[in-house]
Amino acid sequence: MSSTPAAAAPATDALEIRDSRTGKTYSLPITDGTIRANDLLQVKAGAGDVGIRSYDPAFLNTASCRSAITFIDGDAGILRYRGYPIEQLAEKSTFLEVAWLLRHGELPTQEDYQDWVYRITYHTYVHENLRKFLEGFRYDAHPMSMLCSSVAALSSFYPKAHAIHDPEQRNISIVRLIAKLPTLAAFAYRHVKGLPFIYPDNDLTYVENFLSMVARMSESKYEANPVFTRALEVLFILHADHEQNCSTNAVRAVGSSHVDPFSAVAAGIAALYGPLHGGANEAVLHMIKEIGHPKNIPAFIEQVKSGKGESRLMGFGHRVYKSYDPRAKIVKKLADEVFAQVGMDKDLEIALELERIALSDEYFIKRKLYPNVDFYTGLIYRTMAFPTDFFTVLFAVARTAGWLAQWEEMLLDKEQKIARPRQVYTGHPERAYVPTLSERFPRPKKKDSLRK
Ligand code: CMC
Repeated sequence: MSSTPAAAAPATDALEIRDSRTGKTYSLPITDGTIRANDLLQVKAGAGDVGIRSYDPAFLNTASCRSAITFIDGDAGILRYRGYPIEQLAEKSTFLEVAWLLRHGELPTQEDYQDWVYRITYHTYVHENLRKFLEGFRYDAHPMSMLCSSVAALSSFYPKAHAIHDPEQRNISIVRLIAKLPTLAAFAYRHVKGLPFIYPDNDLTYVENFLSMVARMSESKYEANPVFTRALEVLFILHADHEQNCSTNAVRAVGSSHVDPFSAVAAGIAALYGPLHGGANEAVLHMIKEIGHPKNIPAFIEQVKSGKGESRLMGFGHRVYKSYDPRAKIVKKLADEVFAQVGMDKDLEIALELERIALSDEYFIKRKLYPNVDFYTGLIYRTMAFPTDFFTVLFAVARTAGWLAQWEEMLLDKEQKIARPRQVYTGHPERAYVPTLSERFPRPKKKDSLRK
């Protein structure tokens, strides 16, 4: 059974505030380092005032939920899933074990794990109509558009998935989504390449099967390069969850309307597609291509710093990490291993030099901008022969595990309701409608126009 976040402990500390408009003082309980935004409603300028609201565009300092899934300490560069350090999981675990852990809160027993792997393996096929649906896309469709649409379309194949309060339905939907994402992703890849679709091979592991569906040609059995298989397994683990990021927030917000999980995950995929989020790994390679040679890096850095052309150093910076992203450290090591196998890449040279220069530049130091997970992942993916526009798809396949754990946690959290933020209205006050257009251009009477 999935776990729910622990309830808030009764508050013993309080924030004392004084409203300069009225001179009144208030005591707001502090729990887990937070005050409740709703407690501000008692702070009123006078009768008829609705009370103070907190204004926080982009949620810079707002906790939207209590969660027991992923812990990040952005200053110390720490990331843990359910308390387990990401470094240990990346070294010793498998993606499916991590997916189980994220959802259930504990590592699976051997029996749990075998059953979980079995069920995921035997739900990898998709309805043939979905295959046809994917075939309807243009030859140059972005695979993230295809993935997003096909996951949304899955919802129509499983109407019972709307019963989100039924644990059995939640269970099978979660299995289906984790099982079918690699199939849909691989089909999107094959469509763009103009290659025949390869059906899942149930003898293979999750990652091997994915690589088989992507790369298999005429061979009867696909044998993946073990260095690539392990690299992808690690990258999937690193991308499996990252607490309340843009796409997870999208899944939770859309899921809070009690729509089915296929639709909620499609919303997460749409959010991930953006270049400031999952699309950054693709953007890093475009950036490296644009730089072209290490000698052009200083000029590029100057351009970034000047803010001209809205260019940013892609793969650098993070809303939460104000030190080296712990995932980036693991990815950099992984890149070394992969490149040791396939040889040094000129773009890796540019990336290393870019990192070296940026980390010693005052602009980046002052703003605490360090490489994030996306800085080196693209280089590894490209070495594995994945096309650039497919990188974010790989991210989405892995993040589905986290989205689903977060979605279920949200559903089981008694404090959660439909996500519905407030606004500060900045438009016109009430004003009377002046019928300008309709007076100048009166519509012909219906009867008249019919007689003509
Ligand atoms: N290159 C140059 N300057 C930057 C960068 C960057 N990559 N990131 C932030 N800054 C500057 C920004 O201009 C601002 O400077 P100033 O204070 O002078 O106005 C300051 O740093 C703070 O930036 P911000 O935009 O307020 O920070 P944010 O927390 O809103 O943005 C971010 C976080 C990840 C969107 C941003 O750092 C960024 O755009 N990075 C590049 C895209 C990227 O790599 N995204 C992947 C994120 S990790 C994977 C994921 O979660 O999807």
